[in-house]
Amino acid sequence: MTAKDRAIGVFLLLAIAGSGGFIFAYVTNGNRLLEGVSLAGAAAMFAAAALGWAFWIVPDEQVVDEIDEYPSSIAARDEQSATIAEDERSIGRQKALLRLLYVALGSFALALASPLRSFGPLVAAKSLFSTKWRRGSRLARADGTLVSTSDLNVGAVEVVFPEGAIGDPMSQATLIRLPDGVVPNTPSGYIAYSRLCTHAGCPVALYRSQQQQLACPCHQSVFDVTRNGAVVSGPADHALPRLPLVADASGALRATGDFPVPVGPGFWERP
Ligand code: FES
Repeated sequence: MTAKDRAIGVFLLLAIAGSGGFIFAYVTNGNRLLEGVSLAGAAAMFAAAALGWAFWIVPDEQVVDEIDEYPSSIAARDEQSATIAEDERSIGRQKALLRLLYVALGSFALALASPLRSFGPLVAAKSLFSTKWRRGSRLARADGTLVSTSDLNVGAVEVVFPEGAIGDPMSQATLIRLPDGVVPNTPSGYIAYSRLCTHAGCPVALYRSQQQQLACPCHQSVFDVTRNGAVVSGPADHALPRLPLVADASGALRATGDFPVPVGPGFWERP
């Protein structure tokens, strides 16, 4: 291996080290300066290796294939054999450099792809359309206690989650006890709506028991509890999803399924 080949190899090794340094600094949430210096160093070493390759390895002379007169002299044949042997050695050296180049390119690509982690966890398409409520899920408070029909007075509200998914933000719901008969098919007057505002996703945290309305404090959208969460006023443009409820034989409140439509604000696949 010639000194020039070795120099290109060193450049490529330094490029690999720079890429590795960037990945290490990024994954360990480390020093931003180290990230910048190592990535810039890797790019600079790539540039140096490319220049070396272009000037030292890629042949730039014009080759003329002469037609020899036969028979060749023994000296000419020996010279030709030596040239072929040298070319074969050269190809072998370049193969080693090529392998090093592939490793360097791979590590550089990995370094460039690493920041994709900063986009956060992948959002499975399904997670936008469904919550943790299932048929038979019992209603539980944030402290894990279960809600039964005897727990709330008329006009009272509770924040509830599916048992087993306490704290799940997409599944949070507001449970309200209305006077019996105000809304048909409500077990003992209990009705529940998604707590995520359909405008921009704030918690719909206020209940006006006189008007039987839920209000969002962020931009003042108001929803009618007695009309399936229909928008009364404000910027929200669709109703709060209602959680279907039933009371079992012991009086525990259970969902009969998930919300019938996706919760929260509209998005690209949902009007
Ligand atoms: S987020 Fe509720 S009104 Fe805007």
